[in-house]
Amino acid sequence: MKTLQFTFKTLDDVDSRGKRVLIRVDMNCSVDPETKTITDSSRIDAIRNTLEDLSQSKVVLLAHQGRPGSDDFISLEQHTEILRNSGFDATFVDDIFGKKAKDAIEKVKDGEILVLQNVRYFDGELKKAPPEEVAKEPLVQELYPLFDLFVNDAFGAAHRSQASLVGFTTVLPSVAGRLVEKEIRTLTEATETDQHPWTLVLGGSKVEGKVKTLSKLLTTGRVDNAVLGGLVGTLFLIADDKIPESYSAPIKGYENAVDTARELIASYSDVILLPEDAAVESNDNRIDCEFSDMNGHPFLDIGPRTAAKYTELITNSAVVFANGPMGYFEKEVFASGTKMILQAIADCKGVTVVGGGHMGAMANKMKLESEITHISTGGGATINFLTGKKLDLVLALEEAAKRMDG
Ligand code: 3PG
Repeated sequence: MKTLQFTFKTLDDVDSRGKRVLIRVDMNCSVDPETKTITDSSRIDAIRNTLEDLSQSKVVLLAHQGRPGSDDFISLEQHTEILRNSGFDATFVDDIFGKKAKDAIEKVKDGEILVLQNVRYFDGELKKAPPEEVAKEPLVQELYPLFDLFVNDAFGAAHRSQASLVGFTTVLPSVAGRLVEKEIRTLTEATETDQHPWTLVLGGSKVEGKVKTLSKLLTTGRVDNAVLGGLVGTLFLIADDKIPESYSAPIKGYENAVDTARELIASYSDVILLPEDAAVESNDNRIDCEFSDMNGHPFLDIGPRTAAKYTELITNSAVVFANGPMGYFEKEVFASGTKMILQAIADCKGVTVVGGGHMGAMANKMKLESEITHISTGGGATINFLTGKKLDLVLALEEAAKRMDG
């Protein structure tokens, strides 16, 4: 296989020793909705190579955790603690670009890492716009003069054109981190295969974005089977009149996605596979049932008939890409659908890629790493990568490389 030539610069192209380096990472971890503690730190482990390669620099980390209003929208203190427990000299400052943050940045020494507060605590970070526009945000304007180099290693958020991800590339020399390199190299290799059947497993929440990406992906003609579950599956079941609209209550962005879901079902009825039975909660117990017996209880997992059908299809596929759990996997009794799907992916002899914080965490917990071709830190980013459109992070780094070559 030929070596991939990157279209952007990497850490190999710059001398970072003694320099002040701002790194955007994706340490967006699974968090227990009740205790608010991190339940899986694999996205933090995944940035180790970059941090080690910058061990002679003054490093400041910028990252997000969750979204405003979500259960996992927490401070980055725990992330800093995990970095410390992994052997890094990391400290945390409860500020992003104010005086407190600037004073702390000033004091960072070679070999030390300062973690800034959750960047999504700043409203301007939520705006999505082209790099030149988000670069005007105070986040970028206040911080960039304090640094010599920007490193983007946030592969999981590579499809987001937000200030912390693409703004700094317009004003600082900018390169990709080791994780971004590894993800792009591995995903490029995995997508180069033209084998079929090609199966996409799509579940979890964030339905609005996922339905849009699914729509783009289906038009490529690449997908033979799109196997749906989780809240994405629930949306399609409603769109297909299998369950009533009242089940849409837990789905954020339902109104904006349901019409597209209906159109996709009409155009790709031979590709899209929907759950055929469900699991619901009644008196704290898991009840596997037909849709007609859900009695208004939310869809919390695919039922056993669906799991068996999906398992067979996945095991016999030549290529499988999976993103998003099949149900409310945070609760053990509703994790079985997701676990069966992951086991099927591990048993598949073809090229298999599991993406996203939740599915990756579960695959690691089940110790399936060696049986899956690649566990990607990207969920939405990986699915976007498959559509063939260049990721915003890559486009921004390409522009930065042109500017650096002057
Ligand atoms: C993810 O978990 O997919 C990334 O961290 C990006 O998060 P977002 O979908 O909230 O932008």
